[in-house]
Amino acid sequence: MHKCVQDLEVFDLKSMRIWGGRPLDGTVNIQGSKNAALPIMAAAVLHKGMTVLHHCPKIADVLFMEKILIQLGAKVCWKGSSLYLDCSSLENTNIPDQYARKMRCSIILLGALLGRFGKGAIAPPGGCVIGKRPVDLHISMLEALGTRIEEKQGLLEAHTAGLQGGMVSFEKQSVGATEHAMIAAVLAQGVTCLKNCAKEPEIVWLAKFLNGMGASVTGAGTEEIQIRGVSVLKDSEFEIPPDRIVAGTYLCAAAITRGKICLENPPVLELSAFLGIYGKMGGQYDMVGGKLIADASGANGAVGLVETEVYPGFSTDLQSPVMAVLSLARGKSHIRENIFEDRFRVAEDLVRMGAHIRINGRDAYIDGTQKLQGRRVNAQELRGGAALILAGLAAEGETCVENFSLVERGYEQIQEDIRSMGGKASIEEG
Ligand code: EPZ
Repeated sequence: MHKCVQDLEVFDLKSMRIWGGRPLDGTVNIQGSKNAALPIMAAAVLHKGMTVLHHCPKIADVLFMEKILIQLGAKVCWKGSSLYLDCSSLENTNIPDQYARKMRCSIILLGALLGRFGKGAIAPPGGCVIGKRPVDLHISMLEALGTRIEEKQGLLEAHTAGLQGGMVSFEKQSVGATEHAMIAAVLAQGVTCLKNCAKEPEIVWLAKFLNGMGASVTGAGTEEIQIRGVSVLKDSEFEIPPDRIVAGTYLCAAAITRGKICLENPPVLELSAFLGIYGKMGGQYDMVGGKLIADASGANGAVGLVETEVYPGFSTDLQSPVMAVLSLARGKSHIRENIFEDRFRVAEDLVRMGAHIRINGRDAYIDGTQKLQGRRVNAQELRGGAALILAGLAAEGETCVENFSLVERGYEQIQEDIRSMGGKASIEEG
């Protein structure tokens, strides 16, 4: 079984045991968004002062980013779910290897360090095993803004005499490269115009945060973003929004168990494409007083072809959870993964649980079955691990998901959340 060895080196070997076979029935509050919090934490480095992030998820990737900031010289503390980042005395511009390799989005720290100090160094980033995940778009963007980047002894070393605003047109839409460019351009001289930008909600939240600290960013959420460089930033506070992928994951948990759940604070406007698929399955929902009341008792339908796309299309991060749900649908479904080239690894463990899934390159063909059997299975990456937990909630008997620490990268309290939705799960160490 291929394991993401890098990640296993970092985490203790934890597993989650799930007792399946009962429809979920309960209420859950959605944690702060991982993919909003991480670039915002990196952007805090731009400011020689205090940044406070409320509703920040205490997940492994945020704790990794916290450790990196501390090693750069930041003073960091938590008060409940509020994260206090004092970047006044930041002085180190070498991003520590042991964390950078574990978390892909650490590369966007380079743009913040270059903006503030004119230099930065990082080991080529890691992340999950869902594809090659190159950083060419990041490198060419930084060079377009006046940076010289060399690879020395396995490190990417970046220097600039001062970032210069300019035109950057991305060859393909990249969430991280768009965020990286926005952050790098904040303190650059002059105006930066970004074209063919990603339009994910996390880009819009990052722009809101940057403007809250005194930057001048317009156009976020469209394909063209403009950043007018400034020279002074200020202390700021920001509320991290609810995590749309966690919310979608939990709606999949309701669908796979044919249950009924209430999401207290759903980012429903960010879930349109997914909710379209959920509806095709036969899932129903109402919005009542800002809460999403889902009735998935009839969510047993197959959905034909679903394709992952850049936002506002169906998110690749919900592809594995949806695959788990479709494993128990009545009829055949077909998933095409258009974003990453290796994001079907969870299929092998779903098949071991009794699913009928055939993979051919970027296509997964799912022939829905009646039952799944509880098994000992392995999380290989974050969203595939979450999908196995969903399968365990519906399977007969007990399921044990090993390498559970990979799931903790993005889900703050999935055990408690499962219990609050009426499911039964426990975490075991070692
Ligand atoms: C972000 O990753 C998210 N991570 C991912 O979520 C998400 O799946 C992805 O966007 C797509 O929505 C965070 O926000 C921390 P990309 P990112 O750059 O920025 C290629 C999760 O489960 N590409 O938009 O790394 C790349 O290989 C994670 O929460 C280049 O070719 O994604 C991919 O095929 C997984 N060159 C495509 O672009 C580059 O320089 C999209 O990647 C950069 C990317």
